[in-house]
Amino acid sequence: MLQKFIACSCLFCFSYTLRAQQNQTASLGKVQLNFSLDRDGSPNYSVDYGGKPVVLSSRLGFTLAEDSTFYRGFQVRGVERKSTDTVWQPVWGETREIRDKYVEMTVHLQEAASGKLLDIVFRIFTDGVGFRYVFPRQDGLRYFVVSDELTQFRMAGDHKTFWIPGDYDTNEYPYTTSALSAIDNAALVASSTAIAVRVAPDRYAVQTPLMMKSADGLYINIHEAALVNYPAMQLHMDAATLTLSARLVPDAVGNKAYVHAPFSTPWRTIIVSDKAADILSSKLVLNLNEPSKLATTDWIHPMKFVGIWWEMQTGKGTWSYSDYADSLSASGGLIPSGHHSANTKNVERYIDFAARNHIGGVLVEGWNVGWEDWFGNWKENVFDFVTPYPDFDIRAITAYAAGHGVKLIMHNETSGSATNYDRQMDTAFRFMTAWGYGAVKTGYVGKIIPRGEHHDGQWMVNHYIRVAEKAAQYHVMLDAHEPVRPTGLQRTYPNWMACEAARGNEYNAFADGNAPDHETILPFTRLMGGPMDYTPGIFRIRGYSSVPGRQVHTTLAKQLALYVTMYSPLQMAADLPENYEAHSDAFQFIRDVPVDWDDTKVLEAEPGDYLTIARKEKGAANWYLGAITDENARTMNVALSFLDKGRKYKAVVYKDGAGADWKQNPESYAIETLTVDSQSKLVVKLAPGGGAAVSIVAL
Ligand code: NOJ
Ligand code: CA
Repeated sequence: MLQKFIACSCLFCFSYTLRAQQNQTASLGKVQLNFSLDRDGSPNYSVDYGGKPVVLSSRLGFTLAEDSTFYRGFQVRGVERKSTDTVWQPVWGETREIRDKYVEMTVHLQEAASGKLLDIVFRIFTDGVGFRYVFPRQDGLRYFVVSDELTQFRMAGDHKTFWIPGDYDTNEYPYTTSALSAIDNAALVASSTAIAVRVAPDRYAVQTPLMMKSADGLYINIHEAALVNYPAMQLHMDAATLTLSARLVPDAVGNKAYVHAPFSTPWRTIIVSDKAADILSSKLVLNLNEPSKLATTDWIHPMKFVGIWWEMQTGKGTWSYSDYADSLSASGGLIPSGHHSANTKNVERYIDFAARNHIGGVLVEGWNVGWEDWFGNWKENVFDFVTPYPDFDIRAITAYAAGHGVKLIMHNETSGSATNYDRQMDTAFRFMTAWGYGAVKTGYVGKIIPRGEHHDGQWMVNHYIRVAEKAAQYHVMLDAHEPVRPTGLQRTYPNWMACEAARGNEYNAFADGNAPDHETILPFTRLMGGPMDYTPGIFRIRGYSSVPGRQVHTTLAKQLALYVTMYSPLQMAADLPENYEAHSDAFQFIRDVPVDWDDTKVLEAEPGDYLTIARKEKGAANWYLGAITDENARTMNVALSFLDKGRKYKAVVYKDGAGADWKQNPESYAIETLTVDSQSKLVVKLAPGGGAAVSIVAL
């Protein structure tokens, strides 16, 4: 009898333990993560913030080519927990120190029928949750193909959402603000003919970072961190259930990922707060990335740059040397068009301008042969990355730049031919080292080669990282245009300073441009993954284009504010030198504003509406403030309590002039000088589509 009782109670204990293990909770501050295993053994999770549901119970798991039900029939083998609270210093960034505090819970699962293992690691931060799948080393699952990842995010309401289409090849769409249930990208994709390559087969798919606001005031951001050796995750919206489901970008034959265990997927991230400012201040994505892999970083120098660029974007000059791809002169050379921008004299003009204004770099696009038919032909071998056009005297230019203390920035446009770039990469970087280039801007305009691959698929994700690693080997800083959107890998590769991967200022040059709310949305979406090379600083807001009505959709003062609100450690002053010289008083802000910061305070924020950010210069007592608004005028009203107590500062306020307006009167600005301290308030009127920039220099 006693034996029977002991056996029974052991059984009870065992099944109780099993059941207890099937439901797990972990929390930090207001954030709570719940894990559960359904009756059919499928893993689920949910997230709450301060008792409010953020993600309702949502599925986890996969279909694999070799196991189509790797999402059910699991048992919990064990659960591990730990917590961490550390501080680390980024090589550059928005703050000098970053706190990494989290509670980690790893759920070890085993598929009962096959014995295959899968771990799910959850990290709970005070501002959200990250989780990833880990495939441990195991005999039953070594090399395998991911057919689909089934991760879902079942939202608790029909939130206001800021989205671009989930396109396999581009992030360069304008944002739509709508209810979750109204997501439908078909019309936007069809009409976005200015975007070179569009592949968006699912009209209900959106890109991440996806920003949402709930009716009860929660701000929710979904993205991913540490995207390595895996395709990008886009999200399919099911309006009936308000469920966002992972959609991995496929490869040329329709598979999603090729995996060799042990393997960890990227982290899926959910950042949440009841304050919009907290979303922008979150370091969750960076914290989920690995520390720097670089042996040394003392060669990495954040800087501003000007470039031979806007004049081609606006049609004043060309990248190509000749107007003909195939006709040659009698001597067999290209026939010069006479409007090639990257000629020695013009480059020296930009170097002079940079040197005069303490701007560290000069980017030169269109310097190398190949631009006559560079794009649109899906041609593999376009550029060799080392052969200058005849009017670009690299020896003279290098000497001139060195003599003026200016660094040249290399331009390697691949026209999407990653295979060609891969083959030439060592040659290209050796060439940069030989000629003293400290940074490179890459580009991937066009359909990808290997043909059938996409900009955001696993193959290309690995290619961008290969480039970052190669650049690091040669001590070159990297700014990638048209790559997959960033996921915090700038922590691991701090020489990978910036990416485009969004609709930049350039769309104001060659297309209908960016709506006045565009720059109030980008920090909550694309920039959640990392810095953006937005190319701010256009001063000539109208009259630069031959297309009637084409103009930048901001005031001039707002262009200045973007140097603070749109963070990048490689930051361009994008307009022509003559347009800066015409407004040298306003240009003073661009001369002064730093690109590396000790601290950042988000003072006012509402996605799609407005943004005010103050940043403290690295290693100095000075602060710089940027405020922007959408199409509506507003009054910025902030307390300067972040200034050192008892210290006086000279504040120079660059603001919209009386009657300024992005459409009718965009170039009107006023400059005012004040003395301020930590007791002061700053109240500045922002015009419709306007902004203000303030330098606050310690006296
Ligand atoms: C698109 C890039 O975004 C732009 O900055 C560059 O000038 C062109 N491609 C040419 O490479
Ligand atoms: Ca682009």
